[in-house]
Amino acid sequence: MKLLLIFGFVALALADVSRFVGDKVFRLKPRLDKHVTLIKELEKNINVDMWSPGSSEQVTIDIDVDIRVPAMYLDIVFTMLDQSDMEHEILIEDVQAAVDGQADSGGSPRAHSYTKYNTWSDVQNWINSISSANPSLVSKLVIGNTFEARPMTVLKLGKASSSTKPAIFMDCGIHAREWISPAFCQWFVKEALSTYGSDSQMTSLLDEMDVFVLPVFNIDGYVYTHTNNRMWRKTRSKKSGSSCIGADPNRNFDAGWCTLGASSNPCSDTFCGYNPESEIEVKNVADFIRRNKSIIKAYLTIHSYSQLLLFPYSYKYGLAADHTELMTVAQGAASALQSLYGTRYTSGPGATTIYPAAGGSDDWAYDLGVKYSYTFELRDTGRYGFLLPESQIKPTCEETMLAVKHIAAYVQKNL
Ligand code: ARG
Ligand code: ZN
Repeated sequence: MKLLLIFGFVALALADVSRFVGDKVFRLKPRLDKHVTLIKELEKNINVDMWSPGSSEQVTIDIDVDIRVPAMYLDIVFTMLDQSDMEHEILIEDVQAAVDGQADSGGSPRAHSYTKYNTWSDVQNWINSISSANPSLVSKLVIGNTFEARPMTVLKLGKASSSTKPAIFMDCGIHAREWISPAFCQWFVKEALSTYGSDSQMTSLLDEMDVFVLPVFNIDGYVYTHTNNRMWRKTRSKKSGSSCIGADPNRNFDAGWCTLGASSNPCSDTFCGYNPESEIEVKNVADFIRRNKSIIKAYLTIHSYSQLLLFPYSYKYGLAADHTELMTVAQGAASALQSLYGTRYTSGPGATTIYPAAGGSDDWAYDLGVKYSYTFELRDTGRYGFLLPESQIKPTCEETMLAVKHIAAYVQKNL
């Protein structure tokens, strides 16, 4: 037993696994300029991890700011908060306890499950088995490799047709730590395949259209959140000249690139990259969508958390030409979602609904000509944040299904 413990410690040290014992997540409510300045200072000088928004660049008066404070900085942060009179609450008392508490779904460990957070290797095996089990509805397309040479496989769902079909593209897992997102893409594929032939909407959708699903966009980052640091957000690309790793893939698209709500500091969690599409994962997806732009009618990208349904623009405050229609469809989707368990979503353009942030995939796809371009921010609103317990995967995916199907039905009707 003692030996085992020692082994455990050595293995942890070797793997350089980050732990979050005693860390807390705060929700701060800046109401004065000095509060905003204080938050920016906290990010700069102390190693605080911005949960929402993604970086202090995006902090303004009147937006809620969720930050993880490492245990060793709690005393100083408490003092600073009291001195500045900033309203705040504690969302998570002990982050490591929340990390350990995610796996609350029981059942057999380590096999692929739709109600668990699967490792990349389980997702990869699942991609292969689900496609070989459903050859008439699924095909696999490798759209390129990640920085660390993992294949990015898109599942193409749809009934084979002799003519070219219009399509919907959906990706999950742009940000590594948002684990509920890849869980949703897997759920969507399962539901689509198991309800084809019985659910009339799904049947007609897959008869008339194809749905391209990229289950994990940022695979390297996702692997890293399982092996080393649960809170990793970015890609894992390296460049000589900086010791910091990765860029934010959702700041790296060519849409007002790096003008707003993004950082040019390679060490920031919202680093926009060295140039648009510098991240190979972003380039692979952008190339695929460009190549298929004549058939892709909708672009859906799944993130967490905040319970929002966002659409362009985020890189500017100006409204999209299709604003009214995008808003109507979003509100319909949100009310379909709410009908199941009462979960409330807010809909609107990114810049005013969450925060301005340039270089996002939704804006890029929209400006390319994909009119129905939406970003989902799934559950919750901060109780668990990125550490949503596995017991919430099923209800979250079920309700999100209704929203996605609402959008898909609208797109299909308006082809
Ligand atoms: N939480 C997402 C992010 O920070 C929101 C994305 C909204 N869209 C956008 N183009 N910024 O990436
Ligand atoms: Zn995200």
